[in-house]
Amino acid sequence: MPSHDHDDAGHSHGHDDADLAEMVDLDAEVLSSYLGEVMGLIHAAVTGPARRILDLGSGTGTGAFALLRQFGDAEVIAVDASAAMLERVRAKAAGLGRPDAIRTVQADLDTSWPPVGPVDLVWASASMHHMADPGRVLTDVFDAIRPGGLLAVAELSSFPRFLSGELGDGLEARCHAILAEARAQDMPHMGDDWGTWMRAAGFVVEQDRTFTIDLTSPLPEATGRYARACLRRVRTGLADRLGDADLATLDALLDEDGPESILRRDDLRVRTSRTLLLARRP
Ligand SMILES: C[S@@+](CC[C@H](N)C(=O)[O-])C[C@H]1O[C@@H](n2cnc3c(N)ncnc32)[C@H](O)[C@@H]1O
Repeated sequence: MPSHDHDDAGHSHGHDDADLAEMVDLDAEVLSSYLGEVMGLIHAAVTGPARRILDLGSGTGTGAFALLRQFGDAEVIAVDASAAMLERVRAKAAGLGRPDAIRTVQADLDTSWPPVGPVDLVWASASMHHMADPGRVLTDVFDAIRPGGLLAVAELSSFPRFLSGELGDGLEARCHAILAEARAQDMPHMGDDWGTWMRAAGFVVEQDRTFTIDLTSPLPEATGRYARACLRRVRTGLADRLGDADLATLDALLDEDGPESILRRDDLRVRTSRTLLLARRP
């Protein structure tokens, strides 16, 4: 994710949380078939009971709610460093008429492991790359999972792309090149080989899959809003690093009511790639 408004540990806060929350909600909506497939794979891989499930770096809880649907009787615990994200999880649960459906635990995983007790399944989506020391966090995950329990890590190796033609080859390609450079500094673990990290923590990696996503028309209804939420984060994150012409083009795309608004383009595509690793504690 474009990195801005971060404290020293790389955690986002304030208005940045609201933008991130909107983006991850729209991500789950637009990529719902990917998320559904992943949930099916997790369901098939779980052996034994799945009574207690952790969503690590839950954000707004899109994974936590999907897991709740998949494992109806389970206690699902959403862990996140951000109070604002967890508030959204609770608000969603209340909106479903199930205010107690998901337990929320605020914890900075870089600092210490929260007292959540033993668990059967852990899901960490787009959160491991935020960790300062993924090896330490994965060792804590290993200790928390019962023998035979499952760890599912979903990661992305780059930000999604939406534009094609001149804008895709020009503006968007330039933004992605700068993002990649910025990330090498701000988020050095994005794109890591997660299998190596997981094995080092003691897990046996059973599946390591890449999902190459390329959505074209007819696109999910939320695609324009998703593209706008992503580009807005790019705009904020790269404000100091893009030239005036690129910033002006981005502003025109982001202007909800303007003639160039990304919300009204009929040539959007959603290109991204995700990885899913399923690993077991022996
Ligand atoms: C990109 S979001 C992903 C949210 C969600 N898992 C999803 O897939 O929609 C990353 C989340 O990790 C959380 N996070 C980042 N660093 C963290 C840390 N050290 N401890 C706990 N949560 C953290 C952020 O607050 C944010 O909600």
